[in-house]
Amino acid sequence: MTQTVPKPIAEATSLREKSWVFFNGEVVHYADAKVGLLTHGLNYGTGVFEGIRAYWNEEREQLFALSVPEHFERMHQNTRALQMTIPWSVEELVAVTIDLLRRNEYREDAYVRPLSFKSAEIIGVKLHDVPDSFAIVTAPMGLYVGNGGIRCMVSSWRRIDDAMAPVRTKCTGLYVNSALAKSEALQSGFDEAIMLSGDGHVCEGSAENIFIVRKGEIITPPPSDNILEGITRAKVMHLAQEELGLEVRERSIDRSELYVADEVFLVGTGAQVAPVIEIDRRRIGDGEPGPLTNRVQDAYLKVVTGRDPKYAAWLTPIY
Ligand SMILES: Cc1ncc(COP(=O)(O)O)c(C=O)c1O
Repeated sequence: MTQTVPKPIAEATSLREKSWVFFNGEVVHYADAKVGLLTHGLNYGTGVFEGIRAYWNEEREQLFALSVPEHFERMHQNTRALQMTIPWSVEELVAVTIDLLRRNEYREDAYVRPLSFKSAEIIGVKLHDVPDSFAIVTAPMGLYVGNGGIRCMVSSWRRIDDAMAPVRTKCTGLYVNSALAKSEALQSGFDEAIMLSGDGHVCEGSAENIFIVRKGEIITPPPSDNILEGITRAKVMHLAQEELGLEVRERSIDRSELYVADEVFLVGTGAQVAPVIEIDRRRIGDGEPGPLTNRVQDAYLKVVTGRDPKYAAWLTPIY
């Protein structure tokens, strides 16, 4: 599969300034959508966001956005946790997304970033009676992590517990936790972090759900282990079971199981299906992407790029 080569920073910045965004019901240029310094969401992390990928299919000259209704359904649910309301239905938000991607004329892989945030410019930490705003921004998007085999470390940062904040949501403030883990991993020479829960169970990557393979069975932590209920996770479970005939089990995973697993892979909108070839300097399997991981990755990439007609319903064609 071809992946977009990133543009030089100056060119990318000027393209972004001129790109069309949706901001509180209007379509305006990115450069004209402004927020003030006291914005509640900026100061207190009171926002909810989504990340959606769109795949450019060169042969069909078509851009396919993946799982768009599911992302807006999750966002509607997530905003309830922060006492926010999105005044547009899932169908309306899908239509806005199609409109923006068309206006921005992408002929490359792209990313859609919906964001709902407390927009009052006030001092005071609370959730109720604080007005919110809603935006959708789009951008070109290449690889988020390598898809040929990545090296991970178990983070010294534990994943936030659901008893502390709603970890099932893509709440902006929660991403301090992810950013701490990701930087620790990158600055220690690894590609990605794997986070444990407070009680030591494997949760997920900094922005990806995790799967391990043991004796031909695919295992992933259950939602009650403080994971984000990933949309890619659900799609991968479906493909593994229905298309590849593999056993998939949700159960808690211990740290040492990572070391003895036959295969490990991370999944997410950004990461897609990323084989893990090393954790904490221990080789996973034979140190190459595993055979089941490769099958899952191939099946996933075929579907998302519009090359598997059986799963056309997972995609929204933009043009
Ligand atoms: C913390 C976290 N876990 C998991 C995921 C994967 O979720 P999804 O597949 O819905 O993109 C993401 C990415 O959005 C994430 O930020």
